Amino acid sequence: MAIHSIKGMRDILPEEARLWQFVERTAREVFESSGYEEIRTPILEETALFRKSIGEGTDIVSKEMYTFTDKGGRSLTLRPEGTAPIVRSYIENRMAADDVVKLYYVGPMFRSERPQKGRSRQFHQIGMEVIGSSSPYFDAGAIFLMTNLFKKLALSDFKIKICSLGCAKDKEKLAKELGAYLTPEKNRLCPDCKTRLKKNVLRTLDCKVESCRSVLRNSPKAKDFLCGSCGGHYKKVKDLLAELKIDFTEDANMVRGLDYYTNTVFEVTHPGLGAQDAIAAGGRYDNLVEDFGGKKTGAFGFALGTERLLMALSSEKKAGPQKKGLDLYVATTGDKMYTEAFKAVIPLRENGIFCEVNFQGRSLKSQMRQANKKEARFVAIFGDEELKRGEVALRDMKTSEQRNVKLSDLAKEVREGL
Ligand code: HAM
Repeated sequence: MAIHSIKGMRDILPEEARLWQFVERTAREVFESSGYEEIRTPILEETALFRKSIGEGTDIVSKEMYTFTDKGGRSLTLRPEGTAPIVRSYIENRMAADDVVKLYYVGPMFRSERPQKGRSRQFHQIGMEVIGSSSPYFDAGAIFLMTNLFKKLALSDFKIKICSLGCAKDKEKLAKELGAYLTPEKNRLCPDCKTRLKKNVLRTLDCKVESCRSVLRNSPKAKDFLCGSCGGHYKKVKDLLAELKIDFTEDANMVRGLDYYTNTVFEVTHPGLGAQDAIAAGGRYDNLVEDFGGKKTGAFGFALGTERLLMALSSEKKAGPQKKGLDLYVATTGDKMYTEAFKAVIPLRENGIFCEVNFQGRSLKSQMRQANKKEARFVAIFGDEELKRGEVALRDMKTSEQRNVKLSDLAKEVREGL
């Protein structure tokens, strides 16, 4: 019986992994050049971490988490996102410092959603979190960092939408008004939204059911409830983005699928993706550290979906890194030469020469064909007669010239020819 990968989870094969490495390497360079350091948190966390931060009424917590009870009777969950684990780690490891703490992460996340184009159950995020300040400079700075990463990857057709949800008090006011607006319309709401109306009314804004969406079209909006300080913060973020020449539009209807946000939230979409068109998203979460028992600490972050970013890049037909050809292919004229060849490549590789040896008993002709396929720049032929003299034949695949060189000089000869 054949065993297959789990639905919504797939292998990333070498051809594609090269692109992943390119994107991840570029992200690391961009983050690290701005003082961000990598953090790696466990894939499994206590379920309560996500329930308390992302929120009970959200789709992620109520429908999409991979949760199970371990042998010790604890409820554990495969992380659906990276922010809550990082806040947990920040508090647990007493990372709070005089300065802000700047962290980035790269890794898999898990959500049991219905798989479709751009949506999988194991997906990957590249993200950053800056913890320790409520200053709008960090909102704009993080969004700039993201656009800088896109620029380095040569991605151009993305669109940034931003909105402000205000502080906890502003959100409360919105919730109250929204409740008052929706109560008379209760019968037009889906069963989920009827529950949301009682438990967490702001989550109705996230509903995908058409009847609910039409009721919500003219509902009260977050921007109408911003207090003076939150209104000022939002204006400053927009001014700074304009200053940095970052194009964005405001979207008063933006709702994020996670409860922890306050003030600025943003989403980035790309036309090359289809229905699931958000390639990145994030925002401010000034209460989360305190909610988990830390001091009141401002924080901001975002995460991009690596699969979606790669789809966006491929829709723009941006050439990724090409497979590297071999510097040297080592061919042998028989299995007697295998040990010599096996030993000979060790110092070559130590000298940074990208080389491979053939141990499959192929004919010389077939080995030359393989060397061509692997785009080898040089081929070293280990033959019986030459080896007795301490030599090998070195063929330049560009010029087709072939000459004997000392085996002890092979690394030097190849280096000089590259
Ligand atoms: P999120 O909007 O849930 O935010 O996810 C961020 C990005 O992850 C999305 O824009 C999308 O590109 C990708 N993504 C989400 N779910 C899937 C899926 N099922 N399949 C493929 N890609 C997916 C967060 O996770 C927040 N933690 C972001 C953040 C960081 N906020 C503050 N700091």
